[in-house]
Order: sequence, then C-alpha cells, then structure tokens
Amino acid sequence: MEVDASRLVFADPFGMALLAATFHKVREQNGFVRVHHLNAKLSGYLQRMDVFEGVELVGCAPMQGQRHDRADALMEVTRLEQQSDIGNAAYRLTTALVGQMPVMNRDEQPDEMSGYTESDRLAEPIQYALNELLENALTHARRAGYINACVWLSSQYYPSNGLIRVGVVDNGCGFLATLRGHTALHQETHLAAILAALQPRVSCNRDLGLRSDSVNQGVGLTTTRRIAERAGGRLYIASGDAIHSDSASSHLANGAYWQGVAIALECKRQKLPEVRFRDLLPPVEPQLAVRLRFQ
Ligand SMILES: Nc1ncnc2c1ncn2[C@@H]1O[C@H](COP(=O)(O)OP(=O)(O)OP(=O)(O)O)[C@@H](O)[C@H]1O
Ligand SMILES: [Mg+2]
Repeated sequence: MEVDASRLVFADPFGMALLAATFHKVREQNGFVRVHHLNAKLSGYLQRMDVFEGVELVGCAPMQGQRHDRADALMEVTRLEQQSDIGNAAYRLTTALVGQMPVMNRDEQPDEMSGYTESDRLAEPIQYALNELLENALTHARRAGYINACVWLSSQYYPSNGLIRVGVVDNGCGFLATLRGHTALHQETHLAAILAALQPRVSCNRDLGLRSDSVNQGVGLTTTRRIAERAGGRLYIASGDAIHSDSASSHLANGAYWQGVAIALECKRQKLPEVRFRDLLPPVEPQLAVRLRFQ
C-alpha cells in the first residue's frame, strides 16, 4: 500500500486509530505500507503517536530529539487484544486527560463515607465510557467469526478549544452482524444497526439469547453518548458504510467502508465536573413479579 500523504494537514485520535488499524490489516495480509510526502510537522507528531508501527516512511523527516513525556495531554495509539488490559488502559488514558486538571488537588483526602475524592468523581465518567467502548470492542466485535478482532485507542487534549478527543476503533464484525434479527433493527443496513445499538436496553446479548447467563443490559453505548453530550460533546460512530453523530447520519464518503466499529468521542474537559454519570444510566426495567407458592 503506497500512501500519498502530501495533502494531510491534521490528524485527530480517531483518524490516527483508524490509520493504525488499517496499516495493521495490510501487514497482517503480508502486505507492506509506505507513506510518502508527509510534512515534517505531522511526520514528527504521528511518529510520536506510534501510528507508524511497521510502516516505511519515504522522504519524511525522522522523529527528532528525545520523546517528551506528554502523559498529561495525550495517549499514543495503543492496541488492545485482551479484556484483561481494558481496566489499565482506561485508567491510564483517564489519568492522562483528566488527572492533570488544575482543579485537581492531589493531596485531597477521600470522603470518609464513599472513599472517593473529587478527582475520582471527575475521572469517573470518562473512565466509564472508555471501559464500555473497549469492552464492546473485545466482546461483541468478536462475534460472527471475528474472533481475533482487536481495538485501537488513542486520545488527546486540545487546550486551544478545551476539547478532549478519543478514538476507539475495532476491526471486528460491526453492529449489523451482532444485531441481525433483533426486533429493534427495522432495516438490514449498517446505519439502522448503529441507531438500534444506541437505543437504551438494546443488546445482542440480552435479547437474542446468545448466552443464557447474559451479562449485558444494553446500556453502555446509550450512557456513553449521554456522557459525551452532557459534557458538551458528542459521539461519532462509523460501521460498515455508515456514519452517525447526534446531528446527522450519512454514508461514508467515496464509497468507503469500515469493517468493524469506529467511534470518536469528544467532550469539553471543563464540563466533566458537571457530569453525574449514574444519573444518565437508563432506568432499571421493572422485573416481572415472581410468584412464590408454598405447597
Ligand atoms: N464494537 C462493537 N462491535 C459489534 N457490535 C457492537 C459493538 N459495540 C456494540 N455493539 C452492539 O450494540 C449493542 C449495544 O451495545 P451496548 O454497549 O449499548 O450494550 P451491551 O454491550 O449489549 O450491554 P452493556 O453495555 O449494558 O453491558 C451490543 O449488544 C452489540 O449488539
Ligand atoms: Mg456494552
């Protein structure tokens, strides 16, 4: 794969995670990737973000000097393969994006009753959202024969507009494959599947009876979207040939297609203290009364 990057001027974590996942796919099929004409500024930045693992850069400036620790503002593109890595990655990313906020008091004593500090409460919504997205990517995405699917994660804080941007991209089966046959899916299209997945209490695992010991309630994606919105941002969700955000749905441009699910989350960092994510969880559905009969 020969990539002409001469017109590339900006890459956000979503784009970087997509690029890294694409390069991985080419290499997996014993292909090679060569990137040409990348400008010096982007070349240094994208190398710093670990986008170019195993990729040959032709005529691009090498990364200069030593790598600065930017753990307070970004997380390099990271690939996860195992569910056991999720907690650690979500924690690392959250600390990078939220842990350095000026309002944080690092010596704060935890509340006696709850054991939580104010910083825990700030970190909580983002950590919840990441856990949910990563968990989905390493469970649902592996259905329908995609057992080796994995997920790429990257993020950055942009001080100029106060935005946190996170990209979570998997190379699994996509929404449509998991929700086929679900009553909430009104059309067999990728867009309809994205919209169905966003509805509260829609889950392939809960309603389609794929597992008898169902652990999924179908609230992760709904709540993650609400968290982003409450924090002044949104989710962009792409799968198959479709992309959806709160303001619009469309087909991907130029006939593009993503095999898997690719999600961009953006929100205002300063608004995170206003988010109480437990208030955003869909209400628990009433359980059918169980009749006990003593006979
Ligand atoms: N990365 C993914 N790849 C494929 N399908 C997905 C992916 N993420 C979500 N889905 C589909 O969307 C549905 C809704 O996702 P959501 O996270 O809201 O609920 P859940 O994971 O089933 O339950 P919960 O999050 O409450 O444990 C999933 O059940 C699955 O069918
Ligand atoms: Mg989920």
